[in-house]
Amino acid sequence: MTYEFTKEDLDEIERIKAKFPEVKPATLPVLWVAQNRFGHVEPEVQRLVAETLGLPESHVHGVATFYTQYYKEKKGKYVLDVCTCLSCQLCGGYDILHHLEDKLGITKGETTDDGIFTLNEVECLGACGYAPMLQITNDHYVNYLTKEKVDKLIDDLKEDKLPDYEKIEMPLRKVK
Ligand code: FES
Repeated sequence: MTYEFTKEDLDEIERIKAKFPEVKPATLPVLWVAQNRFGHVEPEVQRLVAETLGLPESHVHGVATFYTQYYKEKKGKYVLDVCTCLSCQLCGGYDILHHLEDKLGITKGETTDDGIFTLNEVECLGACGYAPMLQITNDHYVNYLTKEKVDKLIDDLKEDKLPDYEKIEMPLRKVK
C-alpha cells in the first residue's frame, strides 16, 4: 500500500517544522500527524515521514520504535490499554482484562475480526489513584472500572460514542 499525506497534513507539517530551528525535533509531532492520518506508523509510513522531513529512515524508525504510543502495526479503531500494574492489579485490573478478553473474544495483544478493538495489557499509566483503569487509543482514560462499566464502554464505542465518565470522579482531598 502506498501512503501519502494530504495537502492539509503537509500544511500542518510545515507549521510544525517552523517551530523548530532544525528538522529533527519535528519527528515526534510529524509521526503523530502520520498516525492520526493512517492509524499507525508501520514501516512504509515511517519511510514517508523520513522522506517528507528529509531525514534518514533509521532516525524516524528509532524514534517510532522507542515509544509504545506509536503503533508500528495496524491496530483496531479503538485501542484499549488495560493497566495491570500494582494499584490497578490490587483493585481488580486482571478481572477487567479477562472480562474484556471474554467479551471481545480475543486475548491481549490481539485485534477483533471486525477491526474495531485492540486489547493490550500495559504498565502504569499514572492514574493509580483511580484504579482500576484503562486508556482508549492514547487519549481518554476510563477510571474506577467495573465489569458493568466495561460492558457499557464497549457498547458505546461500537456506536463511536466516547465515554463521558473518563473524567476524575472522586473529589480531590484538600491539602491543609
Ligand atoms: S497502577 Fe494502574 S495507573 Fe498506576
